[in-house]
Amino acid sequence: MKNIPNHAVVDLFCGVGGLTHGLKQAGLNVVAGLDCDNDCRYAYEVNNKGAKFLNQDVANLTGSDLERLYPSDSVKILVGCAPCQPFSLYSSRYRKEGHKDNKWKLLYSFANLVEAIQPQVVSMENVPGLQKESVFTDFVNILEQNGYYVVYRVVFCPDYGAPQNRRRLVLLASRFGEIAFPEKTHSQGNYVTVRDAIGHFPKIADGETDVTDRLHHSCALSKLNKQRMAQSKPGGTWRDWDEHLRLKCHRASSGKTFPSVYGRMKWDEPSPTITTQFFGYGNGRFGHPEQDRAISIREGASLQTFPDDYKFLSEEQTFNRTKLGIHIGNAVPVVLGKAIGVAIKKYMQEIL
Ligand SMILES: C[S@@+](CC[C@H](N)C(=O)[O-])C[C@H]1O[C@@H](n2cnc3c(N)ncnc32)[C@H](O)[C@@H]1O
Repeated sequence: MKNIPNHAVVDLFCGVGGLTHGLKQAGLNVVAGLDCDNDCRYAYEVNNKGAKFLNQDVANLTGSDLERLYPSDSVKILVGCAPCQPFSLYSSRYRKEGHKDNKWKLLYSFANLVEAIQPQVVSMENVPGLQKESVFTDFVNILEQNGYYVVYRVVFCPDYGAPQNRRRLVLLASRFGEIAFPEKTHSQGNYVTVRDAIGHFPKIADGETDVTDRLHHSCALSKLNKQRMAQSKPGGTWRDWDEHLRLKCHRASSGKTFPSVYGRMKWDEPSPTITTQFFGYGNGRFGHPEQDRAISIREGASLQTFPDDYKFLSEEQTFNRTKLGIHIGNAVPVVLGKAIGVAIKKYMQEIL
Protein backbone atom coordinates (compact mmCIF):
# COMPACT_ATOMS: atom_id res chain seq x y z
CA MET A 1 0.00 0.00 0.00
CA LYS A 2 1.25 3.49 -0.90
CA ASN A 3 2.06 6.11 1.74
CA ILE A 4 -0.57 8.72 2.49
CA PRO A 5 0.13 11.93 0.59
CA ASN A 6 0.91 15.16 2.39
CA HIS A 7 -2.50 16.16 3.64
CA ALA A 8 -4.25 18.24 6.30
CA VAL A 9 -7.69 18.03 7.89
CA VAL A 10 -9.73 20.96 9.22
CA ASP A 11 -12.69 20.08 11.47
CA LEU A 12 -15.58 22.59 11.41
CA PHE A 13 -17.78 22.59 14.57
CA CYS A 14 -15.10 20.52 16.30
CA GLY A 15 -16.50 20.59 19.87
CA VAL A 16 -14.29 18.72 22.34
CA GLY A 17 -12.90 16.64 19.50
CA GLY A 18 -14.75 13.31 19.15
CA LEU A 19 -14.47 13.37 15.36
CA THR A 20 -10.95 14.83 15.36
CA HIS A 21 -9.73 12.19 17.83
CA GLY A 22 -11.10 9.37 15.68
CA LEU A 23 -9.51 10.82 12.53
CA LYS A 24 -6.19 11.09 14.36
CA GLN A 25 -6.49 7.49 15.55
CA ALA A 26 -6.87 6.56 11.87
CA GLY A 27 -3.56 8.32 11.19
CA LEU A 28 -4.83 11.55 9.60
CA ASN A 29 -3.13 14.88 10.18
CA VAL A 30 -5.75 17.17 11.76
CA VAL A 31 -4.32 20.70 11.82
CA ALA A 32 -7.24 22.73 13.18
CA GLY A 33 -10.69 22.59 14.69
CA LEU A 34 -13.12 25.51 14.75
CA ASP A 35 -15.93 26.03 17.20
CA CYS A 36 -17.78 29.03 18.66
CA ASP A 37 -17.72 27.51 22.17
CA ASN A 38 -14.36 28.44 23.67
CA ASP A 39 -14.96 26.04 26.58
CA CYS A 40 -14.08 23.20 24.18
CA ARG A 41 -10.56 24.55 23.64
CA TYR A 42 -8.75 22.75 26.48
CA ALA A 43 -10.18 19.30 25.76
CA TYR A 44 -9.74 19.71 22.02
CA GLU A 45 -6.10 20.77 22.14
CA VAL A 46 -4.76 18.73 25.05
CA ASN A 47 -6.06 15.44 23.65
CA ASN A 48 -5.28 16.15 20.01
CA LYS A 49 -1.66 17.22 19.78
CA GLY A 50 -0.91 19.24 16.65
CA ALA A 51 -4.51 20.34 16.12
CA LYS A 52 -5.11 24.00 16.93
CA PHE A 53 -8.47 25.13 18.33
CA LEU A 54 -9.89 28.31 16.79
CA ASN A 55 -12.72 30.02 18.58
CA GLN A 56 -14.64 31.01 15.49
CA ASP A 57 -18.22 31.36 14.28
CA VAL A 58 -18.24 29.27 11.11
CA ALA A 59 -20.96 31.54 9.66
CA ASN A 60 -18.39 34.36 9.57
CA LEU A 61 -15.50 32.30 8.21
CA THR A 62 -14.36 33.20 4.70
CA GLY A 63 -12.81 30.87 2.16
CA SER A 64 -9.48 32.65 2.45
CA ASP A 65 -9.53 32.36 6.28
CA LEU A 66 -10.03 28.64 5.88
CA GLU A 67 -7.50 28.25 3.06
CA ARG A 68 -4.80 29.74 5.30
CA LEU A 69 -5.20 26.87 7.79
CA TYR A 70 -3.90 24.32 5.27
CA PRO A 71 -0.14 24.05 4.73
CA SER A 72 0.71 24.80 1.10
CA ASP A 73 0.73 21.79 -1.26
CA SER A 74 -1.28 19.63 1.15
CA VAL A 75 -4.27 17.57 0.08
CA LYS A 76 -7.14 19.45 1.72
CA ILE A 77 -9.69 17.50 3.74
CA LEU A 78 -12.65 19.36 5.25
CA VAL A 79 -14.87 17.63 7.80
CA GLY A 80 -17.66 18.84 10.01
CA CYS A 81 -20.62 17.96 12.14
CA ALA A 82 -22.85 21.04 12.22
CA PRO A 83 -24.99 21.41 15.35
CA CYS A 84 -27.78 18.91 15.03
CA GLN A 85 -30.35 20.39 17.43
CA PRO A 86 -32.63 21.64 14.66
CA PHE A 87 -32.89 18.15 13.18
CA SER A 88 -32.88 16.00 16.31
CA LEU A 89 -35.86 13.85 17.23
CA TYR A 90 -35.32 14.99 20.82
CA SER A 91 -35.54 18.69 20.04
CA SER A 92 -38.94 20.06 20.92
CA ARG A 93 -37.72 23.45 19.80
CA TYR A 94 -37.27 22.08 16.30
CA ARG A 95 -40.71 20.54 16.33
CA LYS A 96 -42.18 23.87 17.41
CA GLU A 97 -40.13 26.25 15.33
CA GLY A 98 -38.97 24.04 12.53
CA HIS A 99 -37.01 25.80 9.87
CA LYS A 100 -36.83 29.13 11.69
CA ASP A 101 -33.76 28.07 13.66
CA ASN A 102 -30.70 30.02 12.56
CA LYS A 103 -28.48 26.97 12.83
CA TRP A 104 -29.97 25.64 9.59
CA LYS A 105 -27.84 28.23 7.90
CA LEU A 106 -24.65 26.60 9.11
CA LEU A 107 -24.90 23.78 6.59
CA TYR A 108 -25.07 26.39 3.84
CA SER A 109 -21.98 28.02 5.36
CA PHE A 110 -20.28 24.60 5.20
CA ALA A 111 -21.31 24.16 1.54
CA ASN A 112 -20.12 27.69 0.68
CA LEU A 113 -16.73 26.94 2.23
CA VAL A 114 -16.45 23.76 0.15
CA GLU A 115 -17.23 25.80 -2.96
CA ALA A 116 -14.68 28.44 -1.99
CA ILE A 117 -11.68 26.21 -1.26
CA GLN A 118 -12.54 23.01 -3.20
CA PRO A 119 -11.02 20.51 -0.74
CA GLN A 120 -10.15 17.14 -2.27
CA VAL A 121 -12.19 15.26 0.34
CA VAL A 122 -15.20 16.35 2.40
CA SER A 123 -16.99 14.53 5.20
CA MET A 124 -20.15 15.58 6.99
CA GLU A 125 -21.89 13.85 9.88
CA ASN A 126 -25.30 14.58 11.38
CA VAL A 127 -28.55 13.12 12.72
CA PRO A 128 -30.52 10.84 10.34
CA GLY A 129 -33.49 13.27 10.19
CA LEU A 130 -31.37 15.71 8.20
CA GLN A 131 -31.65 13.44 5.17
CA LYS A 132 -35.30 14.42 4.68
CA GLU A 133 -34.67 18.16 4.73
CA SER A 134 -34.18 20.42 1.73
CA VAL A 135 -31.04 21.88 3.31
CA PHE A 136 -29.43 18.44 2.94
CA THR A 137 -30.55 18.06 -0.71
CA ASP A 138 -29.10 21.53 -1.34
CA PHE A 139 -25.84 20.52 0.37
CA VAL A 140 -25.50 17.42 -1.83
CA ASN A 141 -26.47 19.36 -4.98
CA ILE A 142 -23.88 22.07 -4.32
CA LEU A 143 -21.18 19.42 -3.92
CA GLU A 144 -22.25 17.56 -7.08
CA GLN A 145 -22.41 20.80 -9.09
CA ASN A 146 -18.82 21.37 -8.00
CA GLY A 147 -17.76 18.02 -9.42
CA TYR A 148 -17.79 15.94 -6.24
CA TYR A 149 -18.67 12.27 -6.09
CA VAL A 150 -20.97 12.04 -3.04
CA VAL A 151 -21.93 9.01 -0.98
CA TYR A 152 -24.04 9.04 2.18
CA ARG A 153 -25.81 6.57 4.40
CA VAL A 154 -27.36 6.30 7.85
CA VAL A 155 -25.07 4.18 10.00
CA PHE A 156 -25.84 2.16 13.13
CA CYS A 157 -22.97 2.98 15.47
CA PRO A 158 -22.63 -0.55 17.01
CA ASP A 159 -21.59 -1.68 13.49
CA TYR A 160 -18.53 0.56 13.95
CA GLY A 161 -17.66 -0.53 17.49
CA ALA A 162 -19.69 1.93 19.55
CA PRO A 163 -21.39 0.40 22.61
CA GLN A 164 -24.41 2.56 21.88
CA ASN A 165 -27.55 2.29 19.69
CA ARG A 166 -26.90 5.60 17.96
CA ARG A 167 -27.78 6.17 14.31
CA ARG A 168 -26.01 8.88 12.37
CA LEU A 169 -25.99 10.21 8.84
CA VAL A 170 -22.49 10.08 7.38
CA LEU A 171 -21.54 11.71 4.08
CA LEU A 172 -18.26 11.41 2.19
CA ALA A 173 -17.40 13.33 -0.96
CA SER A 174 -14.34 13.43 -3.18
CA ARG A 175 -13.21 15.39 -6.19
CA PHE A 176 -11.50 12.42 -7.84
CA GLY A 177 -14.28 9.93 -8.33
CA GLU A 178 -15.68 7.18 -6.22
CA ILE A 179 -14.84 7.09 -2.53
CA ALA A 180 -15.84 3.97 -0.61
CA PHE A 181 -18.16 4.32 2.36
CA PRO A 182 -16.58 3.43 5.76
CA GLU A 183 -16.53 -0.32 6.25
CA LYS A 184 -18.34 -1.86 9.20
CA THR A 185 -16.03 -3.24 11.86
CA HIS A 186 -18.58 -5.17 13.98
CA SER A 187 -21.81 -7.12 13.58
CA GLN A 188 -24.55 -8.29 15.89
CA GLY A 189 -22.56 -11.25 17.26
CA ASN A 190 -19.69 -9.08 18.48
CA TYR A 191 -21.18 -5.69 19.34
CA VAL A 192 -19.34 -3.83 22.07
CA THR A 193 -21.52 -3.78 25.19
CA VAL A 194 -22.18 -1.50 28.13
CA ARG A 195 -20.17 -3.94 30.26
CA ASP A 196 -17.18 -3.69 27.89
CA ALA A 197 -17.35 0.11 28.02
CA ILE A 198 -18.08 0.90 31.67
CA GLY A 199 -17.83 -2.37 33.61
CA HIS A 200 -14.33 -1.50 34.86
CA PHE A 201 -15.07 1.87 36.50
CA PRO A 202 -14.90 2.06 40.33
CA LYS A 203 -18.18 1.68 42.15
CA ILE A 204 -19.67 5.01 43.29
CA ALA A 205 -22.94 5.96 44.94
CA ASP A 206 -25.34 8.59 43.61
CA GLY A 207 -24.00 12.06 44.41
CA GLU A 208 -20.46 10.67 44.80
CA THR A 209 -17.29 11.58 42.90
CA ASP A 210 -14.47 9.08 42.45
CA VAL A 211 -11.28 10.26 44.18
CA THR A 212 -9.07 9.61 41.16
CA ASP A 213 -11.30 11.13 38.46
CA ARG A 214 -13.65 14.05 39.06
CA LEU A 215 -15.56 13.14 35.90
CA HIS A 216 -16.55 9.82 37.41
CA HIS A 217 -19.33 11.60 39.25
CA SER A 218 -22.97 10.62 39.43
CA CYS A 219 -25.93 12.93 40.09
CA ALA A 220 -27.48 12.85 43.55
CA LEU A 221 -30.92 11.23 43.55
CA SER A 222 -33.89 12.27 45.64
CA LYS A 223 -35.19 9.74 48.19
CA LEU A 224 -38.09 8.97 45.84
CA ASN A 225 -35.84 8.46 42.82
CA LYS A 226 -33.61 6.15 44.88
CA GLN A 227 -36.63 3.98 45.59
CA ARG A 228 -37.53 4.04 41.90
CA MET A 229 -33.98 3.19 40.90
CA ALA A 230 -33.97 0.24 43.30
CA GLN A 231 -37.04 -1.17 41.53
CA SER A 232 -35.81 -0.47 37.98
CA LYS A 233 -34.89 -3.51 35.93
CA PRO A 234 -32.19 -3.56 33.24
CA GLY A 235 -33.94 -2.67 29.97
CA GLY A 236 -37.17 -1.98 31.88
CA THR A 237 -39.28 1.12 32.43
CA TRP A 238 -41.24 2.85 35.18
CA ARG A 239 -43.90 0.18 34.68
CA ASP A 240 -41.68 -2.08 36.82
CA TRP A 241 -42.23 0.16 39.86
CA ASP A 242 -44.81 -0.12 42.62
CA GLU A 243 -47.87 2.00 41.92
CA HIS A 244 -47.06 4.63 44.59
CA LEU A 245 -43.66 5.38 43.00
CA ARG A 246 -45.11 6.24 39.59
CA LEU A 247 -45.31 9.83 38.40
CA LYS A 248 -48.73 11.43 38.09
CA CYS A 249 -48.54 11.37 34.30
CA HIS A 250 -47.65 7.66 34.39
CA ARG A 251 -50.58 6.85 36.67
CA ALA A 252 -53.02 8.81 34.52
CA SER A 253 -51.84 7.36 31.25
CA SER A 254 -52.76 4.12 29.61
CA GLY A 255 -49.07 3.44 29.28
CA LYS A 256 -48.35 5.60 26.28
CA THR A 257 -46.25 8.29 27.94
CA PHE A 258 -42.48 8.22 27.90
CA PRO A 259 -41.75 4.54 28.47
CA SER A 260 -38.14 5.22 27.64
CA VAL A 261 -37.33 7.40 30.64
CA TYR A 262 -36.31 6.20 34.10
CA GLY A 263 -34.76 2.98 32.88
CA ARG A 264 -31.67 0.97 33.66
CA MET A 265 -29.20 -0.13 30.99
CA LYS A 266 -28.53 -3.78 30.23
CA TRP A 267 -24.95 -4.96 30.78
CA ASP A 268 -24.63 -7.11 27.72
CA GLU A 269 -26.06 -4.91 24.98
CA PRO A 270 -25.13 -1.52 23.55
CA SER A 271 -26.62 1.40 25.53
CA PRO A 272 -29.39 3.74 24.38
CA THR A 273 -28.27 6.82 22.42
CA ILE A 274 -26.23 9.07 24.67
CA THR A 275 -27.97 12.46 24.65
CA THR A 276 -26.71 15.73 26.12
CA GLN A 277 -28.58 14.88 29.35
CA PHE A 278 -27.36 11.32 29.80
CA PHE A 279 -26.27 12.01 33.39
CA GLY A 280 -29.87 12.31 34.64
CA TYR A 281 -31.76 9.18 35.67
CA GLY A 282 -35.09 10.71 34.54
CA ASN A 283 -33.83 11.81 31.13
CA GLY A 284 -33.72 8.46 29.35
CA ARG A 285 -32.70 4.89 30.10
CA PHE A 286 -29.52 6.09 31.72
CA GLY A 287 -29.58 4.15 34.97
CA HIS A 288 -26.45 2.11 35.74
CA PRO A 289 -27.04 -1.63 35.09
CA GLU A 290 -26.56 -2.63 38.74
CA GLN A 291 -25.59 0.34 40.92
CA ASP A 292 -28.55 2.45 42.06
CA ARG A 293 -27.58 5.64 40.25
CA ALA A 294 -27.45 7.30 36.83
CA ILE A 295 -24.29 6.78 34.82
CA SER A 296 -21.43 9.17 35.55
CA ILE A 297 -20.06 11.79 33.19
CA ARG A 298 -16.99 9.58 32.60
CA GLU A 299 -19.16 6.57 31.82
CA GLY A 300 -21.15 8.64 29.30
CA ALA A 301 -17.88 9.67 27.65
CA SER A 302 -16.83 6.04 27.55
CA LEU A 303 -20.11 5.02 25.86
CA GLN A 304 -19.27 7.74 23.30
CA THR A 305 -15.94 5.85 22.95
CA PHE A 306 -13.69 8.59 24.27
CA PRO A 307 -10.62 6.92 25.83
CA ASP A 308 -10.74 6.69 29.64
CA ASP A 309 -7.91 9.21 29.94
CA TYR A 310 -9.50 11.83 27.65
CA LYS A 311 -9.20 15.10 29.55
CA PHE A 312 -12.30 17.29 29.44
CA LEU A 313 -11.32 19.91 32.04
CA SER A 314 -8.15 21.73 32.97
CA GLU A 315 -7.27 22.06 36.68
CA GLU A 316 -8.74 25.57 36.63
CA GLN A 317 -11.98 24.73 34.86
CA THR A 318 -14.91 24.15 37.18
CA PHE A 319 -16.99 21.00 36.92
CA ASN A 320 -20.19 21.96 35.10
CA ARG A 321 -22.31 18.89 34.56
CA THR A 322 -24.70 20.51 32.08
CA LYS A 323 -21.88 21.77 29.90
CA LEU A 324 -19.98 18.48 30.01
CA GLY A 325 -23.19 16.67 29.07
CA ILE A 326 -23.57 18.90 26.02
CA HIS A 327 -19.93 18.51 24.97
CA ILE A 328 -19.95 14.72 25.37
CA GLY A 329 -23.50 14.01 24.18
CA ASN A 330 -23.03 16.11 21.04
CA ALA A 331 -19.77 14.43 20.04
CA VAL A 332 -19.27 12.10 17.12
CA PRO A 333 -18.35 8.73 18.68
CA VAL A 334 -14.58 8.45 18.39
CA VAL A 335 -14.81 5.01 16.76
CA LEU A 336 -17.10 6.40 14.05
CA GLY A 337 -14.61 9.21 13.43
CA LYS A 338 -11.90 6.57 13.16
CA ALA A 339 -13.91 4.57 10.59
CA ILE A 340 -14.41 7.75 8.52
CA GLY A 341 -10.68 8.45 8.83
CA VAL A 342 -9.75 4.94 7.72
CA ALA A 343 -11.99 5.32 4.63
CA ILE A 344 -10.39 8.68 3.74
CA LYS A 345 -6.89 7.30 4.28
CA LYS A 346 -7.59 4.28 2.06
CA TYR A 347 -8.99 6.54 -0.63
CA MET A 348 -5.89 8.75 -0.54
CA GLN A 349 -3.59 5.70 -0.73
CA GLU A 350 -5.46 4.25 -3.69
CA ILE A 351 -6.39 7.32 -5.72
CA LEU A 352 -4.06 10.21 -4.90
C1 LIG B 1 -22.60 18.34 17.08
S1 LIG B 1 -21.43 19.35 17.89
C2 LIG B 1 -19.91 18.86 17.16
C3 LIG B 1 -19.25 17.73 17.85
C4 LIG B 1 -17.84 17.47 17.43
N1 LIG B 1 -17.71 17.28 16.01
C5 LIG B 1 -17.29 16.25 18.16
O1 LIG B 1 -17.17 15.20 17.55
O2 LIG B 1 -16.98 16.35 19.37
C6 LIG B 1 -21.68 20.91 17.12
C7 LIG B 1 -20.73 22.00 17.57
O3 LIG B 1 -21.01 23.16 16.79
C8 LIG B 1 -20.69 24.27 17.57
N2 LIG B 1 -21.31 25.45 16.93
C9 LIG B 1 -22.60 25.84 16.97
N3 LIG B 1 -22.78 26.93 16.21
C10 LIG B 1 -21.57 27.26 15.69
C11 LIG B 1 -21.10 28.29 14.85
N4 LIG B 1 -21.92 29.21 14.37
N5 LIG B 1 -19.79 28.32 14.54
C12 LIG B 1 -18.92 27.39 15.04
N6 LIG B 1 -19.33 26.39 15.85
C13 LIG B 1 -20.62 26.32 16.17
C14 LIG B 1 -21.19 23.92 18.95
O4 LIG B 1 -20.51 24.69 19.93
C15 LIG B 1 -20.86 22.42 19.01
O5 LIG B 1 -19.62 22.21 19.65
